[in-house]
Amino acid sequence: MNAPPDLNRLAGLYRWMEFATFGPWLAWCRAEYLCALGDCRRALVLGDGDGRFTARLLGANPHIEIDAVDASTAMLRALVGRAGTDADRVRAYCADIRLWKPANPPYDLVVTHFFLDFLTTDEVLALARRLRAAVSPSALWVVSEFFVPEGRFGRTVARPVVAGLYLGFRQLTGLQVRSLPDHPRALSEAGFALRARRPRLGGLLASELWTAS
Ligand SMILES: C[S@@+](CC[C@H](N)C(=O)[O-])C[C@H]1O[C@@H](n2cnc3c(N)ncnc32)[C@H](O)[C@@H]1O
Repeated sequence: MNAPPDLNRLAGLYRWMEFATFGPWLAWCRAEYLCALGDCRRALVLGDGDGRFTARLLGANPHIEIDAVDASTAMLRALVGRAGTDADRVRAYCADIRLWKPANPPYDLVVTHFFLDFLTTDEVLALARRLRAAVSPSALWVVSEFFVPEGRFGRTVARPVVAGLYLGFRQLTGLQVRSLPDHPRALSEAGFALRARRPRLGGLLASELWTAS
């Protein structure tokens, strides 16, 4: 197994890089289903980077406890710092998610914002199968991702944008993955069902709400 990408150097810059490239669009994707998460109590947040979504989730839901997993110590430090006085509701695990064993099941929420694209389809499938056994029957899984939609926009805009992102992350972090995984197929095969979907930017981005079916 190859090493996970190293985002330690980017931790302080990440939000500015994001804002310079996509403005507020990624943040809007992350927030799409926040108001549907009020009943969740035990969340597993994977690869949240500098923790902006984790902080929002803690603020929106005063009862939730979060296990946050990331391969980058600097990102996890930023995440815990951003949680502020709510940090006592966060357990941070520095680990490669492909090897990590769920620590406090059953979870009633899984969150992966712009994270599955760091994995191959086979890795997403293995992860989803492991998580299917570690979530409650009514668990939610919130996904934000990049897509290459069918049609002219997909060919002429989305595909080059996604290819550019992979090239940039490969050079900056050593990321080995070269193309988007087929996460909808992987999650479906593992026993999750898509309940809602909100595309943005012509389908280049989408927020999805999955449940354990
Ligand atoms: C693109 S960044 C941040 C994504 C953030 N969720 C967002 O919405 O912008 C992806 C994060 O996933 C982490 N990551 C990448 N591959 C990983 C792996 N195999 N195991 C654990 N964390 C990983 C990186 O360290 C980074 O913090």
